[in-house]
Amino acid sequence: MNNTSKPSTGRMPAQQWSTRFAFILAAAGAAVGLGNIWKFPYIAGENGGGAFVLVYLACIALLGLPLLMAEVLIGRRGQQNPVNSMAVLAQEAGASPLWKNVGRLGVLTGFLLLSFYVVVAGWALAYIPLTASGVFTQLQPAEIGQRFDAHLHNPWVLIGWGTLVLVLTLGIVGRGVRSGLEKAANLLMPLLFLFLLILVGYAASSGHFAKAAAFMFNPDFSKLTASGILLALGHAFFTLSIGGGAMMVYGSYLPKSVSIVRTSILIAILDTAAALLAGMAIFPIVFAHGLEPAGGPGLIFVTLPIAFGQMPFGTLFGTLFFIMLSVAALTSAFSLIEPAIAWLTEKRGMSRLKACLLGGGGIWLLSLGTVFSFNIGAEWTLAGKTFFATLDYLTSGWMLPLGALCMALFTAWVMKPEHTAEELGGRRGLWQLWLPLMRYLVPVVIVVIFLQAVGVIAL
Ligand code: PHE
Repeated sequence: MNNTSKPSTGRMPAQQWSTRFAFILAAAGAAVGLGNIWKFPYIAGENGGGAFVLVYLACIALLGLPLLMAEVLIGRRGQQNPVNSMAVLAQEAGASPLWKNVGRLGVLTGFLLLSFYVVVAGWALAYIPLTASGVFTQLQPAEIGQRFDAHLHNPWVLIGWGTLVLVLTLGIVGRGVRSGLEKAANLLMPLLFLFLLILVGYAASSGHFAKAAAFMFNPDFSKLTASGILLALGHAFFTLSIGGGAMMVYGSYLPKSVSIVRTSILIAILDTAAALLAGMAIFPIVFAHGLEPAGGPGLIFVTLPIAFGQMPFGTLFGTLFFIMLSVAALTSAFSLIEPAIAWLTEKRGMSRLKACLLGGGGIWLLSLGTVFSFNIGAEWTLAGKTFFATLDYLTSGWMLPLGALCMALFTAWVMKPEHTAEELGGRRGLWQLWLPLMRYLVPVVIVVIFLQAVGVIAL
């Protein structure tokens, strides 16, 4: 083996996950977020239920999972922040140093995404004390809707809760890999799944479980459109946190002895389970009260509070629901800022504290744009989209898929096959299947998404 071309700087043990399980929990924390609990259930319901779920599962298995492996692989082999890891691996492969821009793109994408993620996560956090106060048991459905509108219309309230989310995020991330990210994931992820299961149990006992199951799982292929298929695809990337450098930086903390293939499969399973369980926690309640399973923020922040307000123990379980949603959002937020923090500390030589203050300050400023999109800045639009909608569209619709495309091309065409095989358990294993998927299927599909997006629809 040629020593000069091997990635040189391994991470210190303190900068590594202490166990395989810690990585799985942290990465599942990154993956399970607002996308699973808020977005997946209603897009599944509206796009053919079971038919959509089938397409989504296929997208996860054939495209998302191999991409997840590719992204973790880059980080694990590069052993540094996304920018340096790409640079080191490009050098190892004798390719252009320009590939490090893929790392830069990842850092930037996480940064932009987090600026609106903290605002939406702030809604979830705000709804914990609100639900716990029991107010929803006293309000009429229309008043509950007005309550959410009023929440969005007050910039100070949104700034306050968004800032709290950001401070919590930085408080954890600032502590580093083992005492921050790992400890938090060890505590929060079991809690999240426990709450999710409790809520499914509650929904099953007091809601219309069979109707919800039919809504989500009965395949109605007549409702499945081309745009629904593209939506399933785009969402498969988003929900697995692919293309934004998050999985790359988490992969860089992964010891060499751990199997990327096996852990990635588990992460994808946990993420998918969380999405399906979220649907089975939400829709039985929605149907039991004759409410609309319509999409948008309203499903979680208006429809559910109406239902919880009318149910026995609704205040308790409603509060649990918003705690769970906040936890899911927080553990994703960690992973969105970690690429920038790793880059600032390793490349710019900053202390972790300084990196957190600088990165956090930038995100806070940018988050104001999202805050104002719901009130005083609702009229500031670009091509009809508010600041928030523009950022969402840019990051989820373009930057994540572009990052994913570059990672696919890099690992499958630029890196030496013996190196990817080494990281993915040898040439005899699943790698044989992984390589053709990454070489042909993944790039072709992503390019198709782009062509569609330019032409007709936005993902
Ligand atoms: N996967 C997260 C969700 O489902 C979002 C996310 C995307 C997090 C990209 C990190 C990186 O909400």
